[in-house]
Amino acid sequence: MASISAPLSQAPVTPTSGLERLDEMNRRALDGGGAARIAKQHEAGKLSARERIDLLLDPGSFVELDRFVVHRCTDFDMEKQKVLGDGVVTGWGLVDGRKVIVFAQDFTVFGGSLSGAYARKICKVMDLAMKIGAPVVGLNDSGGARIQEGVESLAGYADIFLRNTLTSGVVPQLSAILGPCAGGAVYSPAITDFILMVEHTSYMFITGPEVIRSVTNEEVTKEDLGGAGTHASRSGVCHLTAPDDRTAIAKLRELLSFLPSNNTEDPPVKPTQDPVDREVPELDRMVPLEASKPYDIKTVVRAVVDDGHLYEVHERYAQNIVVGFARIGGRTIGVVANQPNVLAGCLDIKASIKAARFVRFCDCFNIPLVTFVDVPGFLPGTDQEYGGIITHGAKLLYAFAEATVPKVTVITRKAYGGAYDVMASKHIRADYNLAFPTAEIAVMGPEGAVNIIYRKEILAAADPAATRSRFVEEYKAKFANPYKAAELGFIDEVIYPRQLRMRLARALEVLRDKRDKNPEKKHGNIPL
Ligand code: HXC
Repeated sequence: MASISAPLSQAPVTPTSGLERLDEMNRRALDGGGAARIAKQHEAGKLSARERIDLLLDPGSFVELDRFVVHRCTDFDMEKQKVLGDGVVTGWGLVDGRKVIVFAQDFTVFGGSLSGAYARKICKVMDLAMKIGAPVVGLNDSGGARIQEGVESLAGYADIFLRNTLTSGVVPQLSAILGPCAGGAVYSPAITDFILMVEHTSYMFITGPEVIRSVTNEEVTKEDLGGAGTHASRSGVCHLTAPDDRTAIAKLRELLSFLPSNNTEDPPVKPTQDPVDREVPELDRMVPLEASKPYDIKTVVRAVVDDGHLYEVHERYAQNIVVGFARIGGRTIGVVANQPNVLAGCLDIKASIKAARFVRFCDCFNIPLVTFVDVPGFLPGTDQEYGGIITHGAKLLYAFAEATVPKVTVITRKAYGGAYDVMASKHIRADYNLAFPTAEIAVMGPEGAVNIIYRKEILAAADPAATRSRFVEEYKAKFANPYKAAELGFIDEVIYPRQLRMRLARALEVLRDKRDKNPEKKHGNIPL
């Protein structure tokens, strides 16, 4: 390691040595853990902390703080191993001309592990982020608490966790996981808004494979335990993945482009050539008439948003619901959409949690919600009931009900049962509720309903099958359309699907200055 036996700040000063000494200090600081360790980082397919910052920020905009900070640990001979900067590079810069706060952990210095001094550097820039209202981007590559520092490093993590929590909802917090991250290095990202992982070079776990083997006798590789694939599709811990550091950082820059800098601002506007009054004739036939025929809701979403671009979040997790950012008329929207292609678009535990968190993020940061509804209900089954679908489904209901940002909802086909209420219905303060003519709004689907309300008649009939299908047709005529809901004012308009983009654009324009608020309280008690 490029260590120094005594801090350079204690070296003797001569009147002529000022510039040379600063040169030397800078050279040492930029060297991190030394050329050999940086080469090892490159061999592993990873960039160094400073290379990552250079890719994230607009050229020449980085201002580094605390470059010469060193740790104060005296145990384990640590006083002989001091590295300027102590394993984390912190500061501010610009992304597309907008201020961001950044910290990048340097795996070449004690495996990026966190000391007390290192934690204070991160806390300093997080405090600054709160004062100037700028997002915090954490580039994580760390073995967690620095073992040699004991409780001081645990305290350092707690100081960061507290700031993660207090910062939540004030400025966006983004975490990229760019190497093996353990312990505190995963809990801090877990409190932030989005986690992005790089495939095959990054890992997240509380305890690694060796500890697991010794405690539970389970054999698991670090890829299976905490790789990007596992967290993107199985645990849902990670929202975005990328094949390498470069793509990961480009994705972070794009994510920032959808977001305001803080909770008092609106998201930036991205001009587009795509006319807001563009009709989409294909939409008239995109949604199948048969209630149970699958289709890809993303095709519908892409057909109406600017330039067909949807920035999907949690793409591989709970694919029965789609969430992500897009723009209409250059302005950011948060999309929430049932996906009839997966589990028929049913809401289950994972989908409810995924969408609830996304809705709350959008509500924190003034991002209007556009909800596409085609949902046969909550997924039935003992797995779901034992897993607590009641509590978890209520998260989504709570999140939509609590959200005060503009809420626009379009029912493309089925909206059955409680899921109709949950999916940004008029009753929980949606502002503009549309339906395609193919919409069906009912307590349940025709087959299930008829089996319950006409059970006796069907059993007593001479031809039960024919009787059942007659009742089904009657039920469909009565409920399998949007007109009863429109009569009651629960649907504001039944529209020609081809006009959806224009309708959404107009509604969002009218709702732009919407002001709504929740009753005064310390905070609500979302069913966690
Ligand atoms: C001090 C550490 C370190 C740590 C790694 N290093 N982790 N030094 N404290 N936590 C050092 C290694 O000694 C090594 O130094 C260098 O970093 C690279 O580590 P390797 O093990 O060689 O790298 P690799 O094989 O890639 O493995 C990376 C790793 C592994 C998976 C992160 O090092 C590891 O499991 N580290 C410990 C993880 C951990 O349990 N952390 C504490 C969590 S508790 P040399 O000099 O040999 O190059 C925690 C509490 C917070 O964080 C509170 C939570 C709520």
